[in-house]
Amino acid sequence: MNFAERMSRLGTESAFEVLARARALERQGREIVHLEIGEPDFDTPAHIKDAAKRALDAGHTHYGPSAGLPELREAIAQHISETRGIPVSPEEVVVTPGAKPIMFFTILALVNRGDEVIYPNPGFPIYESVINFVGGVPVPIPLREETGFGFDLALFERKVSKRTRLIIINSPQNPTGGVLEREQIQSIAELARHWQIPVLADEIYRYFLYEGGFTSIASLAGMKAQTIILDGFSKAYAMTGWRLGYGVMPIPLAEHVTRLMVNSASCTATFVQLAGLAALQGDQSPVARMVAEFKRRRDLIVDGLNKLPGVSCRSPRGAFYVFPNVSALRRPAGEIADLLLQEAGVAVLPGTAFGQHGEGYLRLWYATSEANLKRALERMEPVLARLARG
Ligand SMILES: Cc1ncc(COP(=O)(O)O)c(C=O)c1O
Repeated sequence: MNFAERMSRLGTESAFEVLARARALERQGREIVHLEIGEPDFDTPAHIKDAAKRALDAGHTHYGPSAGLPELREAIAQHISETRGIPVSPEEVVVTPGAKPIMFFTILALVNRGDEVIYPNPGFPIYESVINFVGGVPVPIPLREETGFGFDLALFERKVSKRTRLIIINSPQNPTGGVLEREQIQSIAELARHWQIPVLADEIYRYFLYEGGFTSIASLAGMKAQTIILDGFSKAYAMTGWRLGYGVMPIPLAEHVTRLMVNSASCTATFVQLAGLAALQGDQSPVARMVAEFKRRRDLIVDGLNKLPGVSCRSPRGAFYVFPNVSALRRPAGEIADLLLQEAGVAVLPGTAFGQHGEGYLRLWYATSEANLKRALERMEPVLARLARG
C-alpha cells in the first residue's frame, strides 16, 4: 500500500507511546506509577452519567445536527458569555467529539500551504503536527521558565508578520502549567489586531486555576471577532472518554467548521451532548472539589520534587501538570525519562515530547492519588541521586 505524502508530515502524541511502553513493562510483571497521561482521576459526576442514561432510554441514539444540538449550543453560548464576559450567540458555537477536532478543523479551514502559524513551544504536540500536515510553516515561540512559562514576547514581536495566518495560545498551559498574565495576553492581542491575525485560544484548562486571574483573549477590545475559543468537557467534568468539546468562533468560520464536521464525524453523539447539557446546567460543586484536591496534590508534588537531587520545580498556577527543570543533571530529558521508567518504574514524559524548547525538563501529571505521587517521588530519588553524582 502506498501512503499519501501528507501522512509523512503527521505527528503524534508521545504520551501514548510512553503509556504503551509502560504497559509492556506491566505485562512483564513490573509495577509502574503512571505520571505520563493527562486526565483527571475522578469519575464523571453521577448526575452527568444519569443524564446520559436517561437520554439513551428516551431514544436519543440517532443523528443530530452537525454543529450540535440547539439546546447545547445555547447553553455553551451562555456559559462562555458568563465566564468570558462577552456576548456569544449559539450560531457561533460548534460542538465536536472532544475539543481536539477544533484544532484540526480551525487549522484546516484557515491555513494554506506555506502560511506561517505561531504556537507555544513546549506546547501540545498536536498543534505542530497539524500545521505540518496541512503544509503550513510552524513558527514556535519558546516559553521561558523565568517568566512563569510565558511567551517570549520580544521574539514573538519579531516573528509575527503578514505571513502569519494564525496564532495559537494555550492558557493554562500543557505541559508547563503556566498561565499567561493579562499583560502578556494584551501584548499578543495588540499584534494580532495590528496584523489582523486570527487567534486560536486553547482554554481547555481554564477551570484548573489555583491562584490569580484568568484572561481570555476573546474578552479584550476588538478580539472576539478574530478569536476561536477551544474548550470542552473532558477535563473540567472528568469526561475524557466521552469525547465532547466545542469551539466558539465568528459565524463564517463556524459554517466552515460545521462543513468539516459534515465531512468527517457527521455529528457528535446525541446522548453525550445531553450529558454535556446536564454538566453545564447542573451542580458545579464536583468541579470545585476536584480543583481543590488537585491544588493540594500540586503542592505535594512541587514540594517533593524540589527535595530531589538535581531537580528544581516552579509551582504552576494552572492545569494539572508540573514541569520540573532537570538541566542540572546534564543528560538529555529523554534519557532521564527512560531511566525513570526502566529503573524506578515511574512513567513521566521528557519535555522534548512537547517540542525542542522542552529540553532540560520533565512533565509529570499529578491528577493521581496522593499515595501514587508519594510512591513516585520515593522511587525517583535513588535514580536521580545517582545521576546527580555523575
Ligand atoms: C492543551 C490541550 N488542548 C486540548 C486537549 C484536547 O482535549 P479533548 O480530550 O477534549 O479532545 C488537550 C488534551 O490533552 C490538551 O492538553
